[in-house]
Amino acid sequence: MPAAPARQQTWSAASYDKHARFVSDLAGPVVEWLALERGERILDLGCGDGALTEQLAVAGADVVGVDASQDLTASARERGLDVQLMDGQELSFVNEFDAVFSNAALHWMTEPDRVLTGVARALKAGGRFVGEFGGHGNVAAIVTAMRATAARRGGDAALAGPWFFPSPDVYAGMLENHGFSVRRIGLFPRPTPLKSGMSEWLKLFRKPFFEQYGPARDEVLGEVEDLLRPVLCDARGNWTADYVRLRFEAVKL
Ligand code: BEZ
Repeated sequence: MPAAPARQQTWSAASYDKHARFVSDLAGPVVEWLALERGERILDLGCGDGALTEQLAVAGADVVGVDASQDLTASARERGLDVQLMDGQELSFVNEFDAVFSNAALHWMTEPDRVLTGVARALKAGGRFVGEFGGHGNVAAIVTAMRATAARRGGDAALAGPWFFPSPDVYAGMLENHGFSVRRIGLFPRPTPLKSGMSEWLKLFRKPFFEQYGPARDEVLGEVEDLLRPVLCDARGNWTADYVRLRFEAVKL
């Protein structure tokens, strides 16, 4: 079967910096699981604007970042990092890395078998694949509110949640099918404060859902927010996203 064409993602580095800085700020535990040693060659898969890639470089890694967004890779290069514009489902590296690291990116890659084929090929034998991303149940309330709004108004409910959020059992099985031994894997809730509020999160991460309503998009945004307010907004107006993380470490056999 021919490979699907490479996909680019359209992110604004400025919006990401303003409304999603928590993504790299909350990555401490998965960086600990990487247990980086100085001089190791690391691939940062879905490196975004390079905030974490830079941390790995400062810690002594010989690190390469890849991301499918032109704007984010440009921003990462401004940090002086070695970064390539590449779809994570079409990794082109062979037997090169001591570890592949990924934070908050794998859920955007909806063909995980293609990702795992590329990661396994990119690693040296004994190399580690360490990552964290949205797991089963991630942003369930947010997706349900969008789906409920689509059911009421008409529209494409599938645009509410195009992500890959597997359970630990499912993802461990996939890793094993691709020749990895799973050292540890776990799913845990990580309620995440949204300093910029829910509407900025929705506009940044789910733009296609709202764009389908044309001039009514702001009204639809308001409806989704109203549905979510009782469960994700406290009495002082502080919003929290219902994130669930899947964190894992696997070794290429
Ligand atoms: C996440 O990091 O879990 C996530 C971010 C944006 C959209 C969906 C999930």
